[in-house]
Amino acid sequence: MHKGDLGAAASIISKAQHLIALTGAGISKESNVPTFRGEDGLWRKYNVMDLATPSAFARNPQLVWEWYSWRQDLIAKCSPNPAHHTLVKWERKGVLKSLISQNVDGLHRRAGSSNVHEVHGNLWAVKCTSCTHLGRLSSPAQGIPECPSCGAKLRPDVVWFGESLDNAVMQQVYAELERADVIIVVGTSALVHPAASFPLVVKQRDGRLVEVNIEETPLTPSVDVHLKGKAGELLPKLDALLKSDTVS
Ligand code: OAD
Repeated sequence: MHKGDLGAAASIISKAQHLIALTGAGISKESNVPTFRGEDGLWRKYNVMDLATPSAFARNPQLVWEWYSWRQDLIAKCSPNPAHHTLVKWERKGVLKSLISQNVDGLHRRAGSSNVHEVHGNLWAVKCTSCTHLGRLSSPAQGIPECPSCGAKLRPDVVWFGESLDNAVMQQVYAELERADVIIVVGTSALVHPAASFPLVVKQRDGRLVEVNIEETPLTPSVDVHLKGKAGELLPKLDALLKSDTVS
């Protein structure tokens, strides 16, 4: 099997009993959402230790909120692209059973995907730094938002460096990884754990791995098919190759 073969990927997907997807920032790149690493990546321009850690927030909540407000504003102006739409189509046809995303941009749900596990949280979700209040912002944050229940500072309900992923979400994710016989991994550098190791859980159970990325990643040696190119172009091409009798 040739690693760059679109037909080989379509064949694996069309035979899947339980296909799941893992996505990263690259799937939203063609929606104009910046990725974290690589050329133009956010972590090239901004220091993660100043913006995305609990101690950064404790030190300077104003700065952290300014950065999140800027990203909320940016993402509010972006729209899902053909890669997001293809995953919606597969979910509606029963081909894709669930979607695990590292992205906080919410574009999968905006595209129409419903079975989405956002392992790093969501840019619009907030939680209180003092009580148990959880909420959502409907527009970019102004200043430091306050808790409607107790008046303490709200913080973005996203996973920061040094923090654990939500237990309930992780239980659902591992249940999906245990069920999956095929995982399609789209637009992630496969550098941040635990998400980077999710595909290997599927592989350990003899599942098949398909990777879509503009470049090779640490995961590439382990995949069955690596499709090199843009997700927004390759996923619709893959969809076109799937036989209608296997996807409807
Ligand atoms: P990265 O920015 O690390 O990687 C983006 C990946 O997308 C790279 O491998 C690119 O080659 C690829 N890529 C770029 N454009 C693409 C396109 N059009 N089509 C397909 N692939 C493309 O993003 P993540 O892997 O998602 O964590 O980063 C993982 C985590 O690191 C993020 O969730 C975030 C970050 O720090 C937290 O905020 C906790």
